[in-house]
Amino acid sequence: MTVPQRQQPAEPAVEAIGIHKRFGSTYALRGVDLSLSPGRCLGLVGRNGAGKSTLVSILAGILPPDAGQVRLGAPIATVFQHSMVVPSLTVAENVFLGSPPRRGGLVDWRAMRAQARKVMSEWGFDVNADAPCASLTVEQRQIVEIARALAAGTRCLLLDEPTAALERGAVQRLFERIRQLRGLGVAVLYISHHLEEVFEICTEAAVLRDGEMVLTAPLAGLGKDDLVTAMVGAERAVASPHARSTPARGQARPGTTPGAPATPHATATPGKEPSPDAAASPAECAGEPAIAGQAPHPSGGAPALTVTDITLDSPGTSLRGVSLTVRRGERLGITGLRGSGATTLARIVAGATAPDAGTVRLGARVLRPGDRAGAMRAGVGYIPEDRQADGFVPLLGVAENITFTIVDRLARFGIVPPRAREARAAPLARRLSIVSAGLGQPVGELSGGNQQKVTVARALARDPELIVAVTPTRGVDVASKELLLAELDRVTSQTGATLLLASDELDDLVICDRVVVLVRGEIFTEFTDPPFNREALIAATEGLEAAR
Ligand SMILES: Nc1ncnc2c1ncn2[C@@H]1O[C@H](COP(=O)(O)OP(=O)(O)OP(=O)(O)O)[C@@H](O)[C@H]1O
Ligand SMILES: [Mg+2]
Repeated sequence: MTVPQRQQPAEPAVEAIGIHKRFGSTYALRGVDLSLSPGRCLGLVGRNGAGKSTLVSILAGILPPDAGQVRLGAPIATVFQHSMVVPSLTVAENVFLGSPPRRGGLVDWRAMRAQARKVMSEWGFDVNADAPCASLTVEQRQIVEIARALAAGTRCLLLDEPTAALERGAVQRLFERIRQLRGLGVAVLYISHHLEEVFEICTEAAVLRDGEMVLTAPLAGLGKDDLVTAMVGAERAVASPHARSTPARGQARPGTTPGAPATPHATATPGKEPSPDAAASPAECAGEPAIAGQAPHPSGGAPALTVTDITLDSPGTSLRGVSLTVRRGERLGITGLRGSGATTLARIVAGATAPDAGTVRLGARVLRPGDRAGAMRAGVGYIPEDRQADGFVPLLGVAENITFTIVDRLARFGIVPPRAREARAAPLARRLSIVSAGLGQPVGELSGGNQQKVTVARALARDPELIVAVTPTRGVDVASKELLLAELDRVTSQTGATLLLASDELDDLVICDRVVVLVRGEIFTEFTDPPFNREALIAATEGLEAAR
């Protein structure tokens, strides 16, 4: 006799039924059902703008649905995609925000600090519980948010891209903790664009596409391709390694063709927009068939970027006499663990951080240390790590944000004509498949991945000579990631721009001609022969030599 398997415990920790949510003309969720069970981990995936974060906000009770019901069987703790850390408060205050330990009715500050220290040491993080959160790195802030959710002692945990800013070690520690919590009967919702993470930690998968739940199934028996196909739907049919994908929702700007496969017969809409700048670079012309390896790649050209003896001694990251040269048109990857200096070096080159000593030269010109505006005028486009702080202005529209860096070029008698702005922004928005209700929509209303794409478009708008990109694909869905990397690849190939790409995502480094690995503030080794061996790269970031 077979014993029937109990797949789902009877009482869900949280259940959403028939959820609808609209923002103006955008249908974010259309009749979505979702159920989280104790001891299970549901992986929620979908393309940028599919409605994942909206659903999380509704489950967490901070956004009302237009229709439908949320039934809570347990209190919920949430790690939101957008940072919810209060910069002016300390680490301890942020961890216990809203629920501080008390004694005799008063906040027990000593206990709060002690407990915060304990949580941080469990995470293996040397974060001072008394430090103001404003002084923390992006990764440390994310740890604070996760610590807050875990400290709440909840029975139901919603995690919206919790690993976006975490390095490998921290991700493993988070997964360990999720497994423990599951063992204790906690229900977990896990959102990620890293599908391998979903397979590693989740028991079921749910796929949102254009606001509809198109698949809910146990992960056993599903492959990565099944998830991607469900996420992308019919578009999958035209996907090729470098194909341009259509936005998740058919609401790109009117009059634009969201994308076309990279075939010789591509039918994008070149030159539809009036160009405000007759001398627009080739990168500004829409509809070119992509991609890698088309233009001859200069291998022995003059140095475009020369970094000499960069030294910086700061808490968390030090650089010790780093020198490197990048040729014109070359794509150099810099990678390393957190604290290795890879990101800091990129910030220094972009003028976002001043080093203690050393010089950065663009061609023959020495850039003034820490002068971001000067670096931009000299031709350095910058995709920063912290898009929320440095990447865009939330209340301004998509076109305004994209053309932020070229206001001086577009202004006529001190005023930028909106049509000129939109004409300049539209091709970039299309090529990066930015999903918005229109070019005037405030960027603060876009989904996380689309905000990231706006940040990338802004850096490319000024036809930079040098693009400094820090983790440019963070938060971007699997299909858009290919598209975004292909765009960086295309711009460098066609305009001869140089790329400095700092990332710990090995997939990003695929477009590089050479990768430099930093360990504890020094160049440890260099990979000059693509395609790069993943294991060897990972070993090198750990400071180990491995067979290439
Ligand atoms: N406050 C808002 N005002 C207007 N539109 C919004 C608002 N919040 C979300 N949207 C829209 O709702 C849709 C779903 O957005 P949501 O943030 O839920 O996507 P997501 O699946 O989390 O995407 P990502 O993977 O990029 O984070 C998007 O089209 C977005 O622009
Ligand atoms: Mg989101």
